[in-house]
Amino acid sequence: MSAIWRTWQTCKSKTRDERLGNPERDPKDNPDTDNTNVKETTMGDRLAGKVAVITGGASGMGLATVERFVEEGAQVVFCDLPPTSREDLAARLGDEKAKMHHARREQGGPNDGVAIGERLGNGATFVPADVTDPEQLAAVVETAVRTYGGLDIMFNNAGIGGAEGSVIECSDEIYDRILDVDLKAVWRGIKLAASAMIERGGGSIISTSSIAAILGFPGLAAYGSAKAGVTELTRAAAVELGPQSIRVNCILPGGVVTPLIYDSPAAEQSVGAEAVRDMLANAQPIPRAGEPTDIANAALWLASDESTFVTGQAIVVDGGMSIEANGSRRRAGG
Ligand SMILES: NC(=O)c1ccc[n+]([C@@H]2O[C@H](COP(=O)([O-])OP(=O)(O)OC[C@H]3O[C@@H](n4cnc5c(N)ncnc54)[C@H](O)[C@@H]3O)[C@@H](O)[C@H]2O)c1
Repeated sequence: MSAIWRTWQTCKSKTRDERLGNPERDPKDNPDTDNTNVKETTMGDRLAGKVAVITGGASGMGLATVERFVEEGAQVVFCDLPPTSREDLAARLGDEKAKMHHARREQGGPNDGVAIGERLGNGATFVPADVTDPEQLAAVVETAVRTYGGLDIMFNNAGIGGAEGSVIECSDEIYDRILDVDLKAVWRGIKLAASAMIERGGGSIISTSSIAAILGFPGLAAYGSAKAGVTELTRAAAVELGPQSIRVNCILPGGVVTPLIYDSPAAEQSVGAEAVRDMLANAQPIPRAGEPTDIANAALWLASDESTFVTGQAIVVDGGMSIEANGSRRRAGG
């Protein structure tokens, strides 16, 4: 039996949490990841020797991707907004909303990047950063290049959305913030990554768009236009950067159980992960909700050398939501 096969067998027999350094982890700490219906992944070397940057890596799909890339041997530098105190949150969101959100955002809470970095050990480094701040985002990329000698994979994933109201209601302030986080920071991430990857001789840039880029969702006009911008940015950058062996693709998730949906700071109260999971189970032909690992697995393929002839693509990962002609009738039981 070869050494690689033996390693694979050993890894396969461990639970996912054991492999990620936390056998005691309570699933309630990260309710957005329920892999009951997702095929169990195995640890391997699909990203061995590669250096990755992931934005928005302390929650939801970003966190699942940090974990997946570490499992596959990458050195990952991930960023997210810094943990905040309950008082800071209250000043921003008001007391009531702060009560609901402080557990996720406080130091040591489930999406404290420092604690996640410590749990994952040598494979992952957390750099607190707001992706809309050019210097902070540049510092994240520089950390990867300085610490690990270059950059192979950039995943522009950080995003905000929901509760923007109708086109008529949406304020300039909310519109600008959504476009800044969901589109302009992706553009900047592509610029920064491309410069580092040209030095390296190539790389893979992935960004998170959304099916809101291709379908009309009421109440998501700013979000949808930012995400549609990401798909076009992807195509143009892919054409420009192809000659330098840099591939540029984006992923369009459908409904995925993450705090963006069930715990949005813009919402009055948390809907709860389980309620969203139940609701999304019937939203598309595949009869289960999308999970963060579904997106992490798509990002893994795009990041790996298995997809070196794929560029400029908008890959839809939505259980078939966007291709179903009579989806609303089926959901209504018609
Ligand atoms: N959940 C879904 O159903 C869904 C569907 C389509 C697309 N998306 C997109 O997927 C991506 C990941 O979202 P998610 O669903 O995992 O939600 P999430 O809220 O769990 O994760 C998003 C992360 O981005 C971080 N972030 C937000 N603004 C930031 C900023 N300015 N600087 C740094 N980090 C910032 C958040 O703190 C959070 O940790 C987003 O781009 C989102 O628009 C989500």
